[in-house]
Amino acid sequence: MSSTASSTQAAPAQAAAQLSVRELSAAERGVLRFITCGSVDDGKSTLIGRLLYDTKLLFEDQLAALERDSVRHGTQGKNMDFALLLDGLEAEREQGITIDVAYRYFATDKRKFIVADTPGHEQYTRNMATGASTADAAVILVDARKGVLTQTRRHTFITHLIGVRHIVLAVNKMDLVGYEQARFDEIVSEYMALADKLGFESISPVPMSALNGDNVIGRSERMPWYSGPPLLAQLEALDGSEADIATAFRMPVQWVNRPNLDFRGFSGQVSSGQIAVGDEIVVAKSGRTTRVKTISTADGPLPSASAGDAVTLVLEDEVDISRGDVLAKPDDRPELSSQFVANILWMNEEKLAPGRSYLMKVGAQIVQASVKAIKHRVDVNTMEQTPANELALNEIGFCELTSNQPIVFDPYDAIPEGGAFILVDRYSNQTVAAGMISHSLSRATNVHKHAMDVTQDDRSRAYGHKPAILWFTGLSGSGKSTIANLVERRLAQMGAHTYSLDGDNVRQGLNKDLGFSDADRVENIRRVGEVAKLFVDAGTIVTASFISPFKSERDLVRSLVKPGEYIEIFVDTPITVCAQRDPKGLYKKAMAGEIKNFTGIDSPYEPPESPELILETTNEPPEVSVDRVINYLREQGILSVSGGATAGYSI
Ligand code: ADX
Repeated sequence: MSSTASSTQAAPAQAAAQLSVRELSAAERGVLRFITCGSVDDGKSTLIGRLLYDTKLLFEDQLAALERDSVRHGTQGKNMDFALLLDGLEAEREQGITIDVAYRYFATDKRKFIVADTPGHEQYTRNMATGASTADAAVILVDARKGVLTQTRRHTFITHLIGVRHIVLAVNKMDLVGYEQARFDEIVSEYMALADKLGFESISPVPMSALNGDNVIGRSERMPWYSGPPLLAQLEALDGSEADIATAFRMPVQWVNRPNLDFRGFSGQVSSGQIAVGDEIVVAKSGRTTRVKTISTADGPLPSASAGDAVTLVLEDEVDISRGDVLAKPDDRPELSSQFVANILWMNEEKLAPGRSYLMKVGAQIVQASVKAIKHRVDVNTMEQTPANELALNEIGFCELTSNQPIVFDPYDAIPEGGAFILVDRYSNQTVAAGMISHSLSRATNVHKHAMDVTQDDRSRAYGHKPAILWFTGLSGSGKSTIANLVERRLAQMGAHTYSLDGDNVRQGLNKDLGFSDADRVENIRRVGEVAKLFVDAGTIVTASFISPFKSERDLVRSLVKPGEYIEIFVDTPITVCAQRDPKGLYKKAMAGEIKNFTGIDSPYEPPESPELILETTNEPPEVSVDRVINYLREQGILSVSGGATAGYSI
């Protein structure tokens, strides 16, 4: 959700980039980032076009193109249609709306500006949230004839949420209300009643006509009753984004740059703070530390870099770092948690329902996450907090979230780039929400991972095989424990390092507080998954025999370890056969109603959709099933094929 120039990938933004008059380095002082918000016809694009045109920052050829296009598409008769400058795509022009965030650069004698042009149409609110994430100021456009609309209120609340400090209230189209002071005053007082509560640093109202150029660049003679400065002078006077540099150093690693064996650099954009050659850094997630050896950029090496700079860091030591990792300084690390609360702006037609799993993208990290509960919804008209079970399109809620893996983040208030995220639907790939993390919900805060010197690789190399979780799932009495036991025996005979986790056993100790309700079974598998993950880290082959009736929890365990380390084995024994075997007499009791929530009787079992192995025990003796498991482990290189195919592994 960064709004810097280098992150504008959308096609309209590229079109817009042609308009840029010069590249701005974020290290340069005096840059003001601002956004414009308004409804479709409020005149945003006309205003920005006017700013660019009147500050004479357009190139001749662009002006020529503009004149041509104005004749073709313009809505302003023979006058030039400034809005056309900003509508990047042909298709959008035909529709007459702007549909993506476009960044533009312009400068006056006093300062430089980056403006994110965000569309006003309701369904494009998401783009507004994206564009505003690092804005210092927002120009909120209001049509003088229409006054303050629900959308004005929503935009104001969102700009508040995303940490914009200054508001310029541009009351536009004053020409259409006869340049009347009374109308302006009325709109300003209505707006103040709403925005005053939100705690912006400044709110500056300006009566304007973007079309005629009144109070945009120069003072308008048509509104002598207004004694304040015109819009551009207001923007020139606001304080800018230098604050970014004073905050803690963060750099999300976008990619590991390894052109040849002698060079290994970590590339990304410094999102906040600064870093210099020789500084000590830490990989936030793993806790590994090292020092910065060199900082290179497209323009050559630098002694130091700061917020906004795109750099490649070469480090003193060979440290394990991958895409998605966040680099920080050891004395000021970001948080690490898988439970947190956040403001969420819901952007999908389909309502947000707590419980569903989405992809969560925070910086360069991608995890699975779900909303556990909505603490409250905010009514943008009254700013009141109301209880809610769901969020509809464009609604804003304060929610509890959990992710399947801990994420590295900062509270949005402290470092916006570190606390902003989006939720993406896993199947449609659509962005369904934008969010801002408020704080962690973990009971243990300020806990950072400590890096250990002996790694999983070292351990498994010493053992002579790769680690794995053999996850046996199936009904009670299906044969999971029997087969798992035989598999472990076979592996142990081969000299492998093994362990067995079994439902009945684990429920005597670690999970003795859990029963068989759905929620308890979810927690049972979550804990066992974490334990199995530790065994994998320890380099062992661990068997886990649990009914594990729900697909989502089995997937959760899969996601805890590296691809290939989780092997799902479906012990596919029909319930009739299980009930016939009934080794513990439980089916008899369940059918007599003496045991409640018994899987397959009055509690569901979701069979695996694509397990690595299916064992049909009805006609297959256990020894044959065991052979199939061992063969699979050989095929996958977990055990080496006849003692040598996998270099370094001896079993
Ligand atoms: S799971 O559903 O949470 O994965 P788990 O595998 O740990 O279950 O435990 C299942 C074992 O608990 C069964 O093999 C059986 O011996 C015992 N058990 C007791 N009550 C129930 C029940 N209501 N449903 C299923 N298993 C039960």
